[in-house]
Amino acid sequence: MNSLVIPNMNPNLLLNKYLPLIEQVATVVELGNVEKALLHKKTGELAMVLRALKDISDPAERKQQGAAANVVKAQLEAALATARQRLGGQTGAVTVDESLPAIVPARGHWHPLHLVQTELVDIFRSLNFAVYEGNERETDDYCFEFLNIPASHPARDLQDTFYLDTKRSDGLKEVMRTHTSNMQVRMMQQQQPPLRMVVPGRVFRNEAVDASHEHTFYQLEGCVVDKDISIAQLTYLLRLAMSTLLKADVKIRLRPGYFPYVEPGFEADCSCTQCAGKGCAVCKYTGWVEMLGCGMIHPNVFKAAGYPAGTYTGFAFGIGINRLAMLKYGINDIRYFMQNDLRWLKQF
Ligand code: DAH
Repeated sequence: MNSLVIPNMNPNLLLNKYLPLIEQVATVVELGNVEKALLHKKTGELAMVLRALKDISDPAERKQQGAAANVVKAQLEAALATARQRLGGQTGAVTVDESLPAIVPARGHWHPLHLVQTELVDIFRSLNFAVYEGNERETDDYCFEFLNIPASHPARDLQDTFYLDTKRSDGLKEVMRTHTSNMQVRMMQQQQPPLRMVVPGRVFRNEAVDASHEHTFYQLEGCVVDKDISIAQLTYLLRLAMSTLLKADVKIRLRPGYFPYVEPGFEADCSCTQCAGKGCAVCKYTGWVEMLGCGMIHPNVFKAAGYPAGTYTGFAFGIGINRLAMLKYGINDIRYFMQNDLRWLKQF
């Protein structure tokens, strides 16, 4: 007769109970607890089962139960070993000092350019601007021709533009876009005014790289088209956006600037937030920091978009995101953005 009195004497019950537990343990401490519950000399459930074998009086029965218990024991031990390996090969018997600081797993985080771009996009989104990303690979038309950039313009020079030797069936030349302005006419062709949009994205220039020039950088193009749009609205919008981004009440100053797709065209400066306009190294002691190019959209651009002549007015602007990030974080070399040095990136 089987004289065992302890519960769970059927060793298979131990398998049902402990195998799932062992598979799920997530820490060495948990594993240690499970091991203890099974193997503790006095209270361990498996230990008790094994110990109770000697009390079986019938030798044949004892042999049979002993064999069954050993199979279960081997299975449980194998599962424990697997879990130990999964948790880093540490022995479950190690006493763990729970007062030690936890090992925090390394987590990824946003790149400084992405931080600035997202902040900018959020500002314009809150003002009801649509956001488009657009193509990095673009036809010559949208990057230059439709933007009133003549074939003789220096931007088209091989030294500035990466031309692609793709062979399109329509014969159009393709380039890596040199600015996010490429999306202006594309989006105008697809919708009628009123139009309010921003285009954040990556652009490419075939340039010699130095502390202030990169072959790959980020811009945010903005564009508003409607009836009776004015320069005053442009400056108001720029002031609002820059003040929100830089968390200061900034002023905007327009200087004449030449961009073929706007007339009049401007370089917009922002009052220096470092010195509040008094003059410092950041603003080169002028009180102003050069921010972006902008202007009133040229009639030839509306023409390329297929808008009826003389009906609409609008403004456009192009912000260099790298430049803004450099200002915001005090970065003095544009090359850091692309080096992906984790020691540098971790700071943001
Ligand atoms: N596309 C210009 C650049 O890459 C920036 C720019 C200037 C955009 C004037 C505009 C603009 O929309 O009106 O430097």
